[in-house]
Amino acid sequence: MPATKEPDSLDAKFYKPADAFFPAYSNIGLTFDDVTLATRYSEVLPRDTQLDTTLAEGLQLNIPVISADMDTVTESRMAIAMALNGGLGFIHYNMPEREQLSELSRVKNNVHGLIQEPIKAGPEQLIGEVLELIAKKRFAFSTFPVVDGQGKLVGLLSGHVVKPRYAKRKVAELLTPRSQIHTLNKKELGRDPIARADKFFTNHPGIHKLLVVDDHDRLHGLFTLSDIERITQERNAQFKPARDTLFRLLCGAAVSATRNAFGELDRERILTHVGGLVERGLDVVAVSTAHGHSRGVGDTVRMLRDAFPKLPIVAGNVSSAAGVEFLADCGANAIKVGQGPGSICTTRIVAGVGIPQLTALYLASRAAQKKRVTIIADGGITKSGDLVKALTLAHAVICGGIFAGCPEAPGEVMEIGGKLYKKYRGMGSLAAMKEGSAARYGHTPDPARKVAPEGVEALKEVSGSVDLVLAQLIGGIQSGMGYLGAANLAQLREQARFIRVSPAGQREAAPHDVVELKTGN
Ligand code: XMP
Repeated sequence: MPATKEPDSLDAKFYKPADAFFPAYSNIGLTFDDVTLATRYSEVLPRDTQLDTTLAEGLQLNIPVISADMDTVTESRMAIAMALNGGLGFIHYNMPEREQLSELSRVKNNVHGLIQEPIKAGPEQLIGEVLELIAKKRFAFSTFPVVDGQGKLVGLLSGHVVKPRYAKRKVAELLTPRSQIHTLNKKELGRDPIARADKFFTNHPGIHKLLVVDDHDRLHGLFTLSDIERITQERNAQFKPARDTLFRLLCGAAVSATRNAFGELDRERILTHVGGLVERGLDVVAVSTAHGHSRGVGDTVRMLRDAFPKLPIVAGNVSSAAGVEFLADCGANAIKVGQGPGSICTTRIVAGVGIPQLTALYLASRAAQKKRVTIIADGGITKSGDLVKALTLAHAVICGGIFAGCPEAPGEVMEIGGKLYKKYRGMGSLAAMKEGSAARYGHTPDPARKVAPEGVEALKEVSGSVDLVLAQLIGGIQSGMGYLGAANLAQLREQARFIRVSPAGQREAAPHDVVELKTGN
């Protein structure tokens, strides 16, 4: 980076670094669209930028994007997709504790490319029944492992014989017998199951399926050549999956500061549950509430820090420097910042409380520097440009709405007026609180009691997969970094120069005076 003679330059009088810009607006709350970033001299190509971020010791992501701990956003499927892209998902807590444990296990046990619960056929089934199943479930494949009542592998039913002309024949008559099927013991999978399967397919030309069994010959999974080929191509991708030291995908889980019937912090319950999560390989816990600068959240963080000294702890939400300092002193490693910016949030309307997100991020980031913790910008991201602005102050960003329309988000697709939608609701909406998230908003989870919701129930148009949505967001971040001459996220924070935008400037920033045929996103 060339040395800049910034203090004397004309640009420097207009385009200010965060520490000059935000204090100059100490009497007004600013958010993403209120500011824009100035371009800087650059020798950085967007595609060469690095996006890895360290949120705490032992918690490194390859992209700075996290999916929100909301019951319409992150369960195991979303968390797997996020980690495969180099990010992270926080599994929400609006479910029984044992279910949250299983959701976490699904992520930690996920072996990319290994279909862990393949659709099976039984030896006594008729081929006609298998054909019916394929039609009913719209399977795009027609080869099935065949197992007996004990789950033991009996053979493989090849697509060549799953034909209407054999409809009346039994699977047992037409299957390829066990002795002729290629299998691998699950113990042989090793640290890199994909490399193992890849080697197998190279050494066995013409074989397209590899089954995984245990010592008792019970079926534990299936590799297909086409999946392995796709994944090996992906391995050359710039951003690698986020994994732990045992090569498992990273996963976070959210908890709340749960209270018992006497209104006291339910220490035993929280500790037992987080202990269970840690045993299953949890990488980071988020104490996730609407008001993090509070005694209950502080006590919970302190208790977890004492009980699990090495576990990365995220806590929030706050929107002040004092809030960050408080949670850092309690033992949190990363602090979630955002009170009311979320697309489904009504906290500012209902409670009259909350701070426009960029001002909150500035204050939080300066307190975080002092306390040597990191901050995560949570909520209000509607486009990749917002992410770039958030990352000039924060180490990562949490998104809810942007991912809620993806197939990996929980919930059914519904058709309204010929368009496809998925439900997206605030965790402080009445419906979500009834299902358990009331504690997050400091309400008792009693459906009979009247509470003031701080979120709405909404719909999001169905979008492409997480891979596609993230590709757009990451492309935008890299583009922004290229404009600022920032080769990595630390340089982005360093290089950012801000200027306030007038209402006319905001209008100018979006497409105008044209009839838009296709959106750019
Ligand atoms: P986006 O804008 O990405 O925001 O949809 C997601 C974030 O919003 C927060 N959240 C809420 N805030 N009432 C609120 O005031 C709610 O009901 C609510 N539900 C979620 C949360 O921080 C999430 O990550």
